[in-house]
Amino acid sequence: MQKTELIAALDTDTLKSAEALIEKLKGSVKYFKIGSVLFTAAGPAAVDLVHRHGGKVFLDLKYHDIPNTVKGAVRHAAAMGVYSVSLHLSGGAEMFKACAELEKRPKLWGITVLTSFDEYGLFRSGYRGGIDKTVKLLAALGLQNGADGVVCSPLEAGRLRQQHDGKITLITPGIRPAARGDDQKRAVTPAEARAAGANFIVVGRPIIEAKDPAAAAAAILEDLK
Ligand code: C5P
Repeated sequence: MQKTELIAALDTDTLKSAEALIEKLKGSVKYFKIGSVLFTAAGPAAVDLVHRHGGKVFLDLKYHDIPNTVKGAVRHAAAMGVYSVSLHLSGGAEMFKACAELEKRPKLWGITVLTSFDEYGLFRSGYRGGIDKTVKLLAALGLQNGADGVVCSPLEAGRLRQQHDGKITLITPGIRPAARGDDQKRAVTPAEARAAGANFIVVGRPIIEAKDPAAAAAAILEDLK
């Protein structure tokens, strides 16, 4: 079975709270996700912060714009030295190709369908094929046009792993450790995501909101073994 790495989401509002979290986790966690909240609040200093602590950055800004604009943004992300960036696969083949052409670039991870969508929500947004088919088509579009990985729900990961075998890198949010019962109905445990074929799992609140974030991360890593 593939190895599955943990990416801890730095979903905090300030550099100070992000640093407090990194300090608790850096002994066991190598990858940190910086999303639009922290990046809008703190900018590239958030990336520097993770690098100063020896971590790798997944810059999750979910780009979706004309090819030239996204290529420019990814060029700046490359200059910051991030490990990976996210782009919406619905941004299209040309957008991915433009970014893939960059000589020095981070890994391009394509977003399929956000797990916040249900069938009706996706239909209302103009996608008429349903979640499964849309995820399948978008993942194929990514693989054909330079995406290095595909972000999807763990519930769709198994099928993509079967379809593309070892040729696809899968990144899955929507993870809930077994012990935590909350309102996330479609979430799976770290071990289930690994069994479905995830190469990376993204975990936010179960670590951030834990009384002991380091222990929460350790339990997740244990579950991934
Ligand atoms: O739910 P949790 O707090 O674990 O979410 C972790 C991160 O995963 C959040 O930063 C969220 O932006 C991201 N996410 C995502 N795609 C999804 C669901 C969550 O990128 N479909």
